[in-house]
Amino acid sequence: MTIGGLSAESLAKRFGTPMLAIDLDVFDAALDDFLRAGERHGVRVSYAAKALLVTALARHLQPLPVGIDVVSLGELATCERAGIEASRLTLHGAGKLDDEIAAAFEGRVGRLVVDSVDELERVVALSAGRSLDVLLRINTGIEAHTHEFIRTAGDDSKFGLAPRDEARAFALLASQPSLRLVGVHGHVGSQVYEIEPFAANTQALAAALTRCREAGFHGADTIVTGGGFGVRMHPSAGDETLDVDRTFAAIRAAAPHAKLEVEPGRAVVAEAGTSIYRVMAIKRFAQRTFVVVDGGMADNPRPALYGAYHHIRAVGTSSAADIAVTICGRSCENDELGDALLPADIRAGDLLAVETTGAYTYSMASNYNRFPRPPVVAVTKREAQLWTRRETIEDVLRADV
Ligand code: LLP
Repeated sequence: MTIGGLSAESLAKRFGTPMLAIDLDVFDAALDDFLRAGERHGVRVSYAAKALLVTALARHLQPLPVGIDVVSLGELATCERAGIEASRLTLHGAGKLDDEIAAAFEGRVGRLVVDSVDELERVVALSAGRSLDVLLRINTGIEAHTHEFIRTAGDDSKFGLAPRDEARAFALLASQPSLRLVGVHGHVGSQVYEIEPFAANTQALAAALTRCREAGFHGADTIVTGGGFGVRMHPSAGDETLDVDRTFAAIRAAAPHAKLEVEPGRAVVAEAGTSIYRVMAIKRFAQRTFVVVDGGMADNPRPALYGAYHHIRAVGTSSAADIAVTICGRSCENDELGDALLPADIRAGDLLAVETTGAYTYSMASNYNRFPRPPVVAVTKREAQLWTRRETIEDVLRADV
């Protein structure tokens, strides 16, 4: 098994395990897919930093024609350290702190996406006459879950303005002309494999944009349809793909005249990532065989949190027949990473690869059990670059008083 031309064994030997390897060529190809489709259909692309952001990744994005969505001062500071211009950044978040709103007024981001009327009141209060481009996050009531989507009144989602709050939001914005309403925003969900929810969401946002213009906000010309582009997690899940170009064509058709934007996270970085673990123990019970590895829910909480599937393979080769096993982490609880077919002669010391872990693993990793977080290593053309080093015990202790 190779990643960016280097063997998983050599990466594990050099950087230790657990580790997250990012195949930079896979990352670049995925981003390019979005950027090219964006050019064809006039859709601007911003990368959703929450999927994965470390300074080196932000530096990699710096010269590319892509915006970045940030949701915290941490993500913002990471972009700043990488020299990304404020105008390329959009600040989101369902409960922004005053410090975050202040950062927007200080010109540290290009735009702020306002999520509620309460937030807008604070934005107005903090503005002190300073100008700011804002978008309104709309609760379109379009919710997508992998292969289905539903139109609801939005009652099941905390995100965005409830319809009953729209008039109040317009009134607040009208009272503060230094706030420029530039458009609307909505996000349908994550791991969506069908085009229709994106089109339906865009249509609902186009209607919201019309309401903005009717309310007198003639500068409102932008629709951001969020992220959510599905990524195939199992090698044989043939239906679990989403054609980016066709999706862009559909959202363009749903809003022919608006400035359109998307903000993919997972679909840009997930497939590029592979987590490498070392097997610590095999336990053969009558009904089940457990394979315990040297990481787990602290570095990838997705299986435990969402029942998410990641394909797991043995790194080494073996002629033994496959057996069904359950791969577990080493946390003090049932932290299964998933079931897999592994060679029957798998043993302690072997390496395992957990695939498609570029998105929402490192970014969601914790120090649970006071485990240090693993390193992130980018690989391209047989060269590895350390993006984030492995944490030390000193790092784990650093905030303790
Ligand atoms: N835009 C907004 C406003 C979002 O809330 C999200 C993700 C994105 C863009 C990017 O969505 P993506 O293209 O990555 O699907 N931790 C979960 C995923 C949470 C997604 C949250 N919002 C997971 O591990 O599956």
